[in-house]
Amino acid sequence: MIYLDNAATTPPDPAVLETFNRVCEGFWANPHSLHRLGERAEQLLEQARAQVVDMLDGRGYRALFTSGATESNNFALKGVAEQYRERGRHIVSTNSEHPSVERVLQSLESGGFSVTRLPVGSDGAVTADQIQAALTDETILVSTMFVNNESGAVTPIAEIADLLQSHQALYHVDGVQGIGKLPFSLREMPVDLLSLSAHKFFGLKGSGVLVLRERQAIASQVLGGGQEFELRSGTVDVPKAAAFAKALRLAVTDVAEKLKRTRELNRTLRKSFAGMQGVACNSPESASPYILNLFVDGIKPETLLQGLAAEEIYISTVSACSSKKAELSPVILALTGSEQRARNAIRISLSCRTSALDIQRFLEAFRQVVNKLR
Ligand SMILES: Cc1ncc(COP(=O)(O)O)c(C=O)c1O
Repeated sequence: MIYLDNAATTPPDPAVLETFNRVCEGFWANPHSLHRLGERAEQLLEQARAQVVDMLDGRGYRALFTSGATESNNFALKGVAEQYRERGRHIVSTNSEHPSVERVLQSLESGGFSVTRLPVGSDGAVTADQIQAALTDETILVSTMFVNNESGAVTPIAEIADLLQSHQALYHVDGVQGIGKLPFSLREMPVDLLSLSAHKFFGLKGSGVLVLRERQAIASQVLGGGQEFELRSGTVDVPKAAAFAKALRLAVTDVAEKLKRTRELNRTLRKSFAGMQGVACNSPESASPYILNLFVDGIKPETLLQGLAAEEIYISTVSACSSKKAELSPVILALTGSEQRARNAIRISLSCRTSALDIQRFLEAFRQVVNKLR
């Protein structure tokens, strides 16, 4: 099997499962109970939280454990909008966000907010200058991705964070496809809110984090017993929190080295595709090498996927969230301006565990399947 759908999800690492099981068995008490068992669970929870913040170089930040990045994104956008609605009702974002941001923006619009969706450029990202020009006295929030999940386009988040230091607007970044793949530091990229998801870096599904500044007030989205800094009530899942910290540790270790290797694999793919007729890269050259979006002329993406799956090679059409809807991809349309390219797009997504042999075998099978289907 060759698995090249790592932007959709990754398998849990055995070490992550080991941490999860160990904590389930040994630290099952309610971390909010006042007895000794509860205290031990709470200590482990706080240790995991501190490790997550530390690995992101986030002194002065705190991590809120969530059920995944969909919740983290919902939390950030709704939490800020509710908290600061008297300060202003304008939000700046882009036309290429994940549905867990875009759908929330739509819902906020129905509730009286106005949203400026900046168009991405030929590199698939927006610039700090575009953000600057869109800001008004009413803007309370800017939300962009770090790395786009379909194209791999990289947003200049350090520049945008820098620009927003002198504006009231908070900066939320959906970091799902970037953290653990590209170098990242909250000290160097001081965003206000950051969403992460464990299953994109060999962690567990249903496990995410929203990182925010220690003193940052946002409106609670889950009311109850007041857990997680009075923001998200409910008994905290300590094993998942510990497993998240473990997965993040594995992801950020040797990130530059893994990136270098993946760049080489991406280069091999691009070189081979350049020599194939009717095949073109949708992803810009500057994209994260972990994601390569491809246009294949004359073959339906689903047919190509099935052809490859018969050879036990797994890739995806557009993002996993929308791939069952069989529409054209708005993200690839925004990037390329071509409906044909947006309709016939497939996504190859690598991980730090993808080998040169995987890529070689994939390319051989790809050539054969494309020739057979044309
Ligand atoms: C960029 C981006 N944001 C958010 C999400 C949602 O993450 P989760 O599956 O943890 O809810 C995804 C998952 O595909 C993603 O790629």
